[in-house]
Amino acid sequence: MTHRTSLTIVLAAGEGTRMRSATPKVLHPVAGQSLLTHVLAAAPKGSTASLAVVVGPDHQAVAQEAKRGRPDAATFVQRERLGTAHAVLAARDAIARGADDLLIVFGDTPLISAATFERLRAPLKGGAALAVLGFRAADPTGYGRLVVKGERLLAIREQADTSPAERTITLCNAGVMAFDGRKALDIIEKIDNANSKREYYLTDAVAIVRKLGLEAVVIETSEDEVRGINTKGQLAEAEQVMQARLRKAALDAGVTMIAPETVYLAADTTFGTDVTIEPFVVIGPGVSIADGAVIHSFSHIVQASIGKNASVGPYARLRPGTSLGEGAKIGNFVEAKAATLEAGVKVNHLSYVGDTHVGANANIGAGTITCNYDGFGKHKTEIGAGAFVGTNSSLVAPVKIGRGAYIGSGSVITRDVPDDAMAVERSQQTNREGGAKRYREMKTRGKAPKDG
Ligand code: UD1
Ligand code: MG
Repeated sequence: MTHRTSLTIVLAAGEGTRMRSATPKVLHPVAGQSLLTHVLAAAPKGSTASLAVVVGPDHQAVAQEAKRGRPDAATFVQRERLGTAHAVLAARDAIARGADDLLIVFGDTPLISAATFERLRAPLKGGAALAVLGFRAADPTGYGRLVVKGERLLAIREQADTSPAERTITLCNAGVMAFDGRKALDIIEKIDNANSKREYYLTDAVAIVRKLGLEAVVIETSEDEVRGINTKGQLAEAEQVMQARLRKAALDAGVTMIAPETVYLAADTTFGTDVTIEPFVVIGPGVSIADGAVIHSFSHIVQASIGKNASVGPYARLRPGTSLGEGAKIGNFVEAKAATLEAGVKVNHLSYVGDTHVGANANIGAGTITCNYDGFGKHKTEIGAGAFVGTNSSLVAPVKIGRGAYIGSGSVITRDVPDDAMAVERSQQTNREGGAKRYREMKTRGKAPKDG
């Protein structure tokens, strides 16, 4: 692209009532990211690009999500929902600054790509006042129809205002438009609400452009890219399209997947080289998997970093804040949360490791549990490098197991164990005696502590 400046306005003021949800529509996730974040990620970025998001009056959370996805985003509130053109004008101050290209996109079309925005901008360089993204709809019902004569776009007709002949048109408005930024405000301000719904339709811009003797063109794309999400069914369809894309990108990048159609990825998952993912793995947001790591079947991983040549599962659950060092091994039925496991650590079977730091090459035996919660707060467990924790041990946090220490099977460790010491403890003595008393008192006073 040249050095043309751009302003992208994302319309996200709708309630999305058809989602039947208390959550605003654009905050629903596809591949672990909100619809809005997907659109923001595709919009032009960099020093020549600015961004505005139009939100509804009670949409604090949408404004916050916009800032999270793009800290450079300005947000504008559309107080009344009077139509798409009215929504655009909520960002009038940003438009008035006069970028070369004004791009308008809906917040509920998460499959749009950055390349399509660039294709749409190209005709503006050639002097067109407006470029509209169109697609051939399998079923055009509900979409605005593009009325064309040869190459020329004459008008867009909304479903409610179409003639029977116009209703047969399958070339539809995707909802993404690019205006010559210096003419946009003039054009959009001329739009009125003289239609059956009494709404200010952005789509009327086409006829106005024509009346002014300016050029309007259509750029076509695939229906898959411009699917608008209005219902939970459409959200699930978009998820399928997105998963297919993510799996293909992962395979293209060299990830080995035996049954890619059973693996769920997040939009931000990153892979090193020679990563293997076995069937039926679910990866949520914030996951990185380094070179040579293997994720075995039926594992569930969210916000975790997996080191080189590490091995996870089958049937492992890695919760937020888990970090595995090089060659670390998490076996079956192991859950980890806020846990750093340094290189070569083994937790092979049936364990819970939470709020814990484990030094290099420590071995955590089957059935080991870090008891991190005492009914009130969470506590840390520190396990030194090279320590050996025997099977079925409970490590009652806060507690430190020294480097190279040896914990006998079935121990309940309630006190710190020095480096290289050997501890075999099965007493009832506990560093939680105070806590236990407090817990009982609370209960007798009818105050249940919160769940762990
Ligand atoms: C719109 C287009 C239609 C196109 C279709 C593609 C118009 C008039 N119609 O119809 O030609 O084929 O999208 O999916 O533009 N919004 C606001 N404030 C408003 C009204 C809408 O922010 O006052 C936002 C909504 O949140 C949504 C977007 O604009 O993100 C589109 O609105 P929607 O009501 O879904 O328009 P459609 O009827 O789908
Ligand atoms: Mg819509």
